Amino acid sequence: MIKVKRRSVGTGYSMVVQPAFIIGTNNEDGSSNFAPITWISVTEGPDGYMLVVSMFGTKRTKQNVLRTGKMSVNLVSRDMLGLMDYFGTHRAEDGKKDAVEYSVSRGEALDVPVLDASRWVYECEVCEKVETGKATTFFCRIRNIQADERFTAADSFDVDLTKLDPVIYSGRYHSLGKMLGKIGDFSE
Ligand SMILES: Cc1cc2nc3c(=O)[nH]c(=O)nc-3n(C[C@H](O)[C@H](O)[C@H](O)COP(=O)(O)O)c2cc1C
Repeated sequence: MIKVKRRSVGTGYSMVVQPAFIIGTNNEDGSSNFAPITWISVTEGPDGYMLVVSMFGTKRTKQNVLRTGKMSVNLVSRDMLGLMDYFGTHRAEDGKKDAVEYSVSRGEALDVPVLDASRWVYECEVCEKVETGKATTFFCRIRNIQADERFTAADSFDVDLTKLDPVIYSGRYHSLGKMLGKIGDFSE
């Protein structure tokens, strides 16, 4: 192994490599709203995995989640990049985000708007929230996962991300490289 020569660069970077998701919520008038949120992680809850979703400021998406306690979390594949970029550069308070074409269905377990273009959708219900600074972090029970019918897996660790083709976000948009193997493939 080589020894990397590093330098201290301050604490302002969030170099956290994450797939991008678009959050779907219900507006007060019953219409749907979508916005990308990439501060997403997972933890253990009383009934299995919980999704951890963090939202900054006072955006409509956050207001809708605070009011309704539910959301859809739609994985963004490369073919959805234009849609995500549009949703993320427009605020609901400036008007309906309807300048691009997309279609919406309702969730199967929860009454939340779901993007038809997404290959992997979590339907989530908020269990707990934590405030830090101007951010609110929602701990969500996963009530349902909708996966592309072409997706197959032997078990919950057998997720071949190359089939989902996610957009990876870390300040810039990236795509995924090769699938390298499974846990244990590289140890003795
Ligand atoms: C790629 C991308 C990722 C984003 N991730 C987050 C995030 O993790 N948390 C957050 O609060 N806002 C995030 N945003 C900002 C919101 O998407 C943006 O403020 C949006 O306009 C809010 O829309 P709304 O008014 O419909 O809620 C992100 C934006 C982009 C483009």
